[in-house]
Amino acid sequence: MPTEAWLAWYQEAAMLQAVTGDEGRGGEAERCFERHLSSLVDSPHLDVGTPPTTVSNMSSGQQSYSAPLELAFPEDLISPEVLKALPSELTMRPLASDDYKRGHLDVLSVLTVVNDPGAAAWTSQFHAMRAMPRTYFSLVIVDKKSDRIVGVGSLFVERKFLRGLGSVGHIEDIAVDKSQQGKKLGQRIIQALTYISENSGCYKTILNCSDSNVPFYEKCGFARKENEMAKYAPERSHSPRL
Ligand SMILES: CC(C)(COP(=O)(O)OP(=O)(O)OC[C@H]1O[C@@H](n2cnc3c(N)ncnc32)[C@H](O)[C@@H]1OP(=O)(O)O)[C@@H](O)C(=O)NCCC(=O)NCCS
Repeated sequence: MPTEAWLAWYQEAAMLQAVTGDEGRGGEAERCFERHLSSLVDSPHLDVGTPPTTVSNMSSGQQSYSAPLELAFPEDLISPEVLKALPSELTMRPLASDDYKRGHLDVLSVLTVVNDPGAAAWTSQFHAMRAMPRTYFSLVIVDKKSDRIVGVGSLFVERKFLRGLGSVGHIEDIAVDKSQQGKKLGQRIIQALTYISENSGCYKTILNCSDSNVPFYEKCGFARKENEMAKYAPERSHSPRL
């Protein structure tokens, strides 16, 4: 049986969904959580004394972790089809609280300037995001043998007042390590994030990209729509905190 903490987490999610009053979206999200709960209860891999987003044991090539991985979101939200389509030496899972040491920022630096904040600040950001259930979904592709991250991507679910209290999925920060590009990993990350977005009840999934990446996203089923506008904040010696 799941622990009380689990059940409280599930009930809170269900209650929030009911409060929205959006039957269609609530129904879909509700089914998603039902699936999640039943698979967790039945899963032989789960330590039932831990929170729902923790996997008790995960093998990684010849290595095996005795300590549980603390995951950013329930791993069964990742599309089984996408997992099946990955090369056998790789796996995809939610971001874990100790993925700093597996090169998460190294892969992100393929995309843009990262400014490494250090392990402690990285972990604090992880927990701040994880504390907002059903909002941040960061996932990674990991090389099983080396236990290094080779691909990353995130989905942010924005709750809205329009479209009957609808939600929009924002795909962000997609990057594949240079040594692994061209092996359909980018496509798998987009497929996995879109699957989560649609199963979360989002009525659309959107993203920004450079002109040079338009053909990649078109191959992933996306189409150009309107324009992106941006205004960068002026440089400051320290970031203001609200
Ligand atoms: C863009 C990126 C994520 C693509 O990942 P990838 O794993 O190399 O791409 P995939 O192998 O999944 O490509 C899927 C398809 O898109 C095509 N494709 C990928 N990038 C492309 C590009 N820039 N231009 C044209 N086609 C591209 C591939 O050829 C492949 O086509 P196919 O199905 O006909 O074989 C990766 O190159 C990357 O990390 N780039 C640097 C960071 C970045 O720009 N991220 C995106 C931010 S918006």
